[in-house]
Amino acid sequence: MKKEENPTHGMMSIPGFPIVLVTVDRNIMTAAAFSFYSFKPPCVMVGIVPKRLTFELISSKREYGINIPRADQLEAVRVCGSISGREANKFTKAGLTPTKGKVIDSFLIEECPVSLECKVVHEVDFGGSHRWFIGEIKAAHIDQNYKRDSALMYWSREYRKVGEVIPLKTE
Ligand SMILES: Cc1cc2nc3c(=O)[nH]c(=O)nc-3n(C[C@H](O)[C@H](O)[C@H](O)COP(=O)(O)O)c2cc1C
Repeated sequence: MKKEENPTHGMMSIPGFPIVLVTVDRNIMTAAAFSFYSFKPPCVMVGIVPKRLTFELISSKREYGINIPRADQLEAVRVCGSISGREANKFTKAGLTPTKGKVIDSFLIEECPVSLECKVVHEVDFGGSHRWFIGEIKAAHIDQNYKRDSALMYWSREYRKVGEVIPLKTE
């Protein structure tokens, strides 16, 4: 039987948030508030809290990189999600290599198997905790051995691996 709970608990019941590393300028930030937005044109969106350095940088540069880490890059994910670029250079702290984007001026992460170069095309903010920056993917760099199963998910303050495929029953 279901019990009525407060709306925030309802939201926290969403089973999965993908973990990405957002790069802008020379900074990296871990984000779980990330989603697909549109296939045509190919757009994604990322939710950033206004006090982050990343917020300031995306607002001025109007671009960002989305770098998808593998589950075995958890330590770098933790570093980029626990200190601000105002305090340290996170490429150095996390042992990651900056590579210049082809389209955007910001750096991407060499070690991540997927890097997407995005230009901000729209923003959504109605005074909530996050501002959503919708970015059109202008270039995509994908390791040819990349499998989505190697990505990381996050909820309830725990990192998780992607689950199993459930084969469909055929009649
Ligand atoms: C697993 C995880 C997910 C996070 N997701 C977000 C997010 O979606 N949006 C956000 O603004 N901050 C998020 N954070 C917090 C930022 O990564 C963190 O505050 C970071 O230090 C900000 O760096 P900056 O000041 O260099 O931008 C997350 C942190 C962790 C550990």
